[in-house]
Amino acid sequence: MSASALPVVLEGTGPLSAVIEDRGSEIADALGTAGGVLLRGYTVASVEAFRGFAAGFGHPLLSYEFGSTPRSKVEGGVYSSTEYPAHREIPLHNEQSYTRDWPLRIWFHCVTAAPEGGATPLADSRAIHRGLDPALRDRFAQRGLRYVRNFGNGLDLPWSKVFNTEDRGAVEAYCRDHAIDFTWKEDGELRTSQLCQAVARHPRTGEDVWFNQAHLFHVSALDAVEREVLLDTVGEDELPRNVYFGDGSPIPDEELDAVRAVLAAETVTFPWQAGDVLMLDNMLIMHGREPYAGPRKVVVAMAEAHGTTRAA
Ligand SMILES: [Fe+2]
Repeated sequence: MSASALPVVLEGTGPLSAVIEDRGSEIADALGTAGGVLLRGYTVASVEAFRGFAAGFGHPLLSYEFGSTPRSKVEGGVYSSTEYPAHREIPLHNEQSYTRDWPLRIWFHCVTAAPEGGATPLADSRAIHRGLDPALRDRFAQRGLRYVRNFGNGLDLPWSKVFNTEDRGAVEAYCRDHAIDFTWKEDGELRTSQLCQAVARHPRTGEDVWFNQAHLFHVSALDAVEREVLLDTVGEDELPRNVYFGDGSPIPDEELDAVRAVLAAETVTFPWQAGDVLMLDNMLIMHGREPYAGPRKVVVAMAEAHGTTRAA
């Protein structure tokens, strides 16, 4: 597939609420092939109208659990896009691919387009899988990944925010249900560790996709100064987040540099226009965010839980 085919752009006029009935089969076709559809020109009267559109595909919208970045709930099942400093880039990722349960569908709606920057880069996870050196790809696939997170202590989100509760018992139950190992530390903070996939197979298309956030969680994702300061002050075990191969052995920086190079080569990007709605197959397509200045509001909804720990 040529990179320019992503996303498929469906332009039209009239209310967004009519699009599923009018163009549902075009949307389904585009999602199954390109993996992403941009609906442009339609009238989205409110965030509620966007919520209704996303819910109209027949699956209840999901809550954002075990998140890695701060976001606020806007309206039942609709969240702000990540509240992460505007001047920083959010690298490409599939939503919640650092865990073993993730949404298959994700929708974005641009309420306010940033006057400067703020585009959402995209990349095809199948192309990333194909583009990587097979030896590296197999090493990751066979060994799996172990993500380690240390919450709170002013370095990362507090656990109460990540798990949406103050109740330790509820956190423990969530972790047990989702195959997450956990340790309460003496200072009351929480460490989690989870063995996850590096590569996943799409349940509908049967294709293998690169599906992990090692390039985001690995210590090499920090800039050199941050990395040195954190390692000097808290040490490797207390880093807010890090990732190892599944057997606990370190992942060399060079391996993740190679992953980042393929991601960069496969990135496509488009500038948002206010009113745009982007619908992605979250396993086929990665998304990110370019730095921006000025006001920007993009809201997000997710649906269709899929993964390896949830009861059928
Ligand atoms: Fe995201």
